[in-house]
Amino acid sequence: MSVQEIIMVCITYRTFLPFRILFIIHQFIVASCLCVCSCVYVCVPSDELTEITMNTNDECGNSSIDAVVVVHTSADHFKRRERFRMAYSNYSNTKPYRLKVVFLIGSVLDANLQIQLERENMMYGDTVVGSFLDTYQNLTLKAVMGFRWLASTCPNVKLLIKLDDDVFIDVRKFFTNYWEKVASNNKKRTIHCLVWHNARVGRTGKWKVEKGLFANASYPFPYCAGFLTLVTPDLIEPMYTYGKSIDFFWIDDVFLYGMIPSVIQGVNFVQLGHNPRVMTQNYKEYKQCRESKGVDKCPLWATLTNGEDEIDQEFAIISAPKPVFDKTVTTKKQYSKDNKQTGLIITSNLSPVNTQQKNLPSINKVFVKIKQV
Ligand SMILES: *[C@@H]1O[C@H](CO)[C@@H](O)[C@H](O)[C@H]1NC(C)=O
Ligand SMILES: *[C@@H]1O[C@H](CO)[C@@H](O)[C@H](O)[C@H]1NC(C)=O
Ligand SMILES: *[C@@H]1O[C@H](CO)[C@@H](O)[C@H](O)[C@H]1NC(C)=O
Ligand SMILES: *[C@@H]1O[C@H](CO)[C@@H](O)[C@H](O)[C@H]1NC(C)=O
Repeated sequence: MSVQEIIMVCITYRTFLPFRILFIIHQFIVASCLCVCSCVYVCVPSDELTEITMNTNDECGNSSIDAVVVVHTSADHFKRRERFRMAYSNYSNTKPYRLKVVFLIGSVLDANLQIQLERENMMYGDTVVGSFLDTYQNLTLKAVMGFRWLASTCPNVKLLIKLDDDVFIDVRKFFTNYWEKVASNNKKRTIHCLVWHNARVGRTGKWKVEKGLFANASYPFPYCAGFLTLVTPDLIEPMYTYGKSIDFFWIDDVFLYGMIPSVIQGVNFVQLGHNPRVMTQNYKEYKQCRESKGVDKCPLWATLTNGEDEIDQEFAIISAPKPVFDKTVTTKKQYSKDNKQTGLIITSNLSPVNTQQKNLPSINKVFVKIKQV
């Protein structure tokens, strides 16, 4: 058939009503066939794995939301979710910043636990439960489900913060000291995290990877320590699209923040692990920094913790009203040559916090003489 003939057929189709109807029916059949085929062979297999069985009760907050916080949590961690609601969902504790917090959970086989999860969802409406089993080998599915939820519910958010449920983040410090100062080119197609380069592939322990699964000794792409990552919203859609179409790799950090970005291409990484180091996986390091420099001067604004007590402690510290003085009192006994106590040196370190009180002495030293018996 020549081009002229095709054009003639088309004109005939369009001009005479019966042909026009036939043409429309024909197009409809072709279109629906294409759609069904591509759905059966492309979308369904991996989308089934991340199906959402219980969803949030509202949309993605409203336009005044500064970030959506997606928390990976285990089904039975009710207490941690309570803490996170208090610390991150409650505006009075994050003012002037507004966060939308969503918890990602997998499904459970225990009926009691299932009922509790349903009750929790009815009460707060901030949990997303997936059809996959809630196990650590299924964390990759949890993460992809998260991007699926974001892509459908929350595509226009300003920032995505992904947290594990044992992470402490000082929200105000994060925004004022870090996010508000990030250059605009680092707010496009960028992942901010503690980045690993040429990391070795683990062959032992809980995170052991069989050689059959990944033969190389190290990963040929950068990836993130996944306990806390910041993802710009322009990556939400591609993360989901590629996440469901490439082969799942069960270590979620490697899959999500290494394999997917390397397929998407042109994804920018910003290192939060040094120069300056603003987050740590080592709670001791965080605590030491805060104790020696004070909350305001310590550059770290997030840390992985070892559990509830440490999270509570850090929340208490950042929520407490500021003291007028950082006051520490130390006492030191003084002895004579024959080891008798002769006195007591009391040092009171009064360092004024308020600028108006800078003229006060910062050290008070008192010597108390002990009367010899
Ligand atoms: C957005 O939601 C917050 C509560 O989360 C509310 O206080 C605020 O008024 C809302 N803003 C708009 C424009 O609806
Ligand atoms: C939010 O936090 C404030 C201050 O910590 C507290 O008084 C209030 O009860 C909290 N609100 C909710 C809904 O938890
Ligand atoms: C992951 O979830 C699927 C679907 O529920 C389940 O069949 C599978 O056993 C889970 N995998 C692991 C390793 O727990
Ligand atoms: C394994 O390493 C080689 C050399 O470093 C590299 O060319 C290759 O792409 C890597 N293969 C995979 C699957 O990462």
